[in-house]
Amino acid sequence: MKKVLFLGLGYIGLPTAAVAANHGFEVIGVDVNPVVVDTINQGKIHIVEPDLAQIVKEAVQQGTLRAVSKPEPADAFFVVVPTPFKQNHRADITYVESATRSVIPFLKEGDLFVIESTSPVLTTERMADIIHKERPELKGKIYIAYCPERVLPGNTLYELVHNDRVIGGINPESTEKAIEFYSAFVQGKLHRTNARTAEMCKLTENSSRDSQIAFANELSMICDKAGVNVWELITLANKHPRVNILQPGCGVGGHCIAVDPWFIVSDYPEQAQLIKRARETNDYKADWCANRVIEACQQFVAENDREPVVAC
Ligand SMILES: NC(=O)c1ccc[n+]([C@@H]2O[C@H](COP(=O)([O-])OP(=O)(O)OC[C@H]3O[C@@H](n4cnc5c(N)ncnc54)[C@H](O)[C@@H]3O)[C@@H](O)[C@H]2O)c1
Repeated sequence: MKKVLFLGLGYIGLPTAAVAANHGFEVIGVDVNPVVVDTINQGKIHIVEPDLAQIVKEAVQQGTLRAVSKPEPADAFFVVVPTPFKQNHRADITYVESATRSVIPFLKEGDLFVIESTSPVLTTERMADIIHKERPELKGKIYIAYCPERVLPGNTLYELVHNDRVIGGINPESTEKAIEFYSAFVQGKLHRTNARTAEMCKLTENSSRDSQIAFANELSMICDKAGVNVWELITLANKHPRVNILQPGCGVGGHCIAVDPWFIVSDYPEQAQLIKRARETNDYKADWCANRVIEACQQFVAENDREPVVAC
């Protein structure tokens, strides 16, 4: 594994590609957006991430990272494209499928294919089926795995190297091959599993965060009705040795938590009752907060005899 190719050079793909380029790999970054390709080849970046500009510039100048619009042969392929949800909250994996199809002609015996995009359970096995259908001679001869990303944007470069990773292949040989790649730059522990457990693990992490935040958010709305200061309440409740309630807010933050739980809910609607309710509670909390701000504005206008402001 000397030459590695990343499909998708966004908030996750570009930092990972740049870190790999600084750890001995020749890295090709593929992006369908020509502005992204041009910007990176000038040694610049199109996203906001501390310290990323410097390592991208160095890698491009040293010739270890270059961006292109179309895939080319490599020893390892990493899919890091978007996975939004559709109107019905089902995961849209068309980007993953399109990225997968784009590299099929370049795969050869011994290559590693890894999906990093947050994906519904069974996505890796479905992409393996697509690859094997197009290239039956490669069945059992290439390595296919899933390795989700769990970095916090703003601290990506540190967490990419220091966080533990969960790595699941479609068979144990694929898991080991993927471990071999990540061990070149990850200092956190690399945990072995199978592909569908790794997929579910990523969704579980963010569903867990979502449910715990929903508890705090629901509590804040109950306390508002009850005339109880929710912040004082949570501080006091957390004095219990086995209680750890999170802080309420205006919904949830970050790129992932408002999206990923839907991938469980849409695939397992009967079983995922609590996960669905948490997602709805956190979405509702944003509206609730907005209404409270509007009410406060209106009260201010009324008490100060001001002209109403349109934005209120
Ligand atoms: N951003 C985060 O904090 C975060 C954290 C963990 C996991 N993830 C997951 O990582 C994945 C990528 O997220 P992101 O934030 O980096 O997305 P992003 O939108 O920042 O970047 C994705 C890039 O992929 C490119 N792209 C789309 N289709 C392509 C194709 N077929 N071939 C090549 N390039 C293609 C787009 O042009 C874009 O530049 C998603 O599944 C996301 O859920 C994101």
